[in-house]
Amino acid sequence: MHFDTRLSQDTVKQTERHTMSLADAARAVRANAYAPYSNFKVGAAIRAVSGEVFSGCNVENVAYPEGTCAEAGAIAAMVAAGQTRLTEVYVIADSPAPVPPCGGCRQKLMEFGEADTRVTLATTEGREASYTLAELLPGAFANAHMDKA
Ligand code: THU
Repeated sequence: MHFDTRLSQDTVKQTERHTMSLADAARAVRANAYAPYSNFKVGAAIRAVSGEVFSGCNVENVAYPEGTCAEAGAIAAMVAAGQTRLTEVYVIADSPAPVPPCGGCRQKLMEFGEADTRVTLATTEGREASYTLAELLPGAFANAHMDKA
């Protein structure tokens, strides 16, 4: 009985993971960001090739360099669910202009996306800017650069 209930809850969640918009997912997860040091909460959502949506928020630490970005959290959730390719990214923060991902996150996103993967950056007030991953990370380091190794 208990098992059945859990199963049906999982099924609902599974459906939501396919149908929810990236914007809604990123906005919702941003509320859970742990950012007591910067006070800058970020939410990120990515769509895997399966259509499922995964989200993450920034998680800071008193040892500042140990903090993790929202994008890294979303990627970790996707990979933990067994997906390793993403088709779309959405990042939201309460900033005056849509805040671009840090350099490290651009490289992390490129690992699982394509040059033409769409990355939408948004403010909580509704401003959006859209880029491809290649625009965000021109000349990305790739496997081919190690061909002589
Ligand atoms: N941050 C993100 O989570 N993603 C970004 O794209 C930009 C920066 C976080 C890291 C840190 O917790 C806070 O924002 C301030 O840098």
